[in-house]
Amino acid sequence: MSDVLLVEKLDGRIARLTINRPDKLNALNGAVRAAVFAALEDLATDDDVRVVVITGAGDKSFIAGADISEFKDARPVEQYRSMVEGNIYGAIESFSKPVIAMINGFCLGGGCELAMACDMRVASTRAKIGQPEINLGLIPGAGGTQRLPRLVGEGWAMRLITSGELISGEKAAEIGLVEAAVDPEDLETHVMELAANIAGRSPMALQAAKESVLAARRMPLDEGLKFERAWFSLLFSTDDMAEGVGAFLEKRPAEFKGS
Ligand code: COA
Repeated sequence: MSDVLLVEKLDGRIARLTINRPDKLNALNGAVRAAVFAALEDLATDDDVRVVVITGAGDKSFIAGADISEFKDARPVEQYRSMVEGNIYGAIESFSKPVIAMINGFCLGGGCELAMACDMRVASTRAKIGQPEINLGLIPGAGGTQRLPRLVGEGWAMRLITSGELISGEKAAEIGLVEAAVDPEDLETHVMELAANIAGRSPMALQAAKESVLAARRMPLDEGLKFERAWFSLLFSTDDMAEGVGAFLEKRPAEFKGS
């Protein structure tokens, strides 16, 4: 296991990935990106794991962005290639299981973009969130200009990206950049309860839910409705659906086995 990324399994069904470069505020460098790819590859085929939580080590930072020291001597072609090859954002978004960002502090640039590539976001009220690339003479390069307006609308996206302004976790919740902002001491409990709730569901239904919700971004409504209907019908082939329906009718809790 790489020391820049801690991989833990909690209660068997929840995997927690902790970016572990606290002395650099968990900035994302090549080693972290490689470790995230490797961890996701392992977790994808680990049938026990139903949900993934991503967070940052220490109490100061989730992820303070891409490691700026890697920009210094990079040339355009190398930079482009490293962004295509190091696209952990796409890997998280297309990961077959739900991924939750637990935002425990600075969530900047590539950190904010990584959080947006996750399926859900919970922030500490003390988090500082934003896209400060403009301070470097840059723009977001890992989806910020595309995912941010989809979450918060064009006006807030434009404001955050052009001003480099950082907002609190509370403000982020108000504008829809995160779904919830909670006191720092409650963050872990809140996220683990959410993760445990999701982890108890049918894995096939979770994958269907994720793929269908994400399809809404790229499909017109009529196509998206067909896509949803196809997934809904396919789930009738699973033991989990028979178990869920049977448990409801027998007035007992369902036990989903993942088949
Ligand atoms: N890339 C590389 N190193 C980073 C980093 C980043 N994105 N963000 C922080 N660090 C490093 C600092 O260089 C410093 O390292 P050092 O101790 O070896 O000098 C260490 O993390 C601590 O950061 P520091 O700036 O001393 O902490 P601070 O509390 O004074 O300020 C921030 C915190 C987040 C405001 C500040 O670090 C910052 O602006 N970081 C860059 C954020 C950014 O622009 N992200 C987008 C990148 S595209």
